[in-house]
Amino acid sequence: MSNAFVRVCGLSELEDDTPKRVEIDGTPVSVVRTEGEVFAIYDICSHANVSLSEGEVDDCHIECWLHGSRFDLRSGKPDALPATRPVPVYPVKIEGDDVLVSLSQES
Ligand code: FES
Repeated sequence: MSNAFVRVCGLSELEDDTPKRVEIDGTPVSVVRTEGEVFAIYDICSHANVSLSEGEVDDCHIECWLHGSRFDLRSGKPDALPATRPVPVYPVKIEGDDVLVSLSQES
């Protein structure tokens, strides 16, 4: 797995609170623009194999649509059951209109 930052999309392609699923080296990542920042979080819920990018974004959290666990986009930690394990979050860099993500884990 590479730790280099790679371009995943253009900043202008991201709508507020609308997750965008991308893949980096085969790893699914949900890129989320919300509250003036861009976050990258592993796109699979830690409870079951569900794509988090299909869920809703609110208050800097992304919600799994299947059972309602909410993951903090800053830490990946769930704040509601049934999920108990965090999902990885990744560092993001913005360069001009480019959104860059590194698969090295931030926390
Ligand atoms: S699959 Fe995500 S909370 Fe159950």
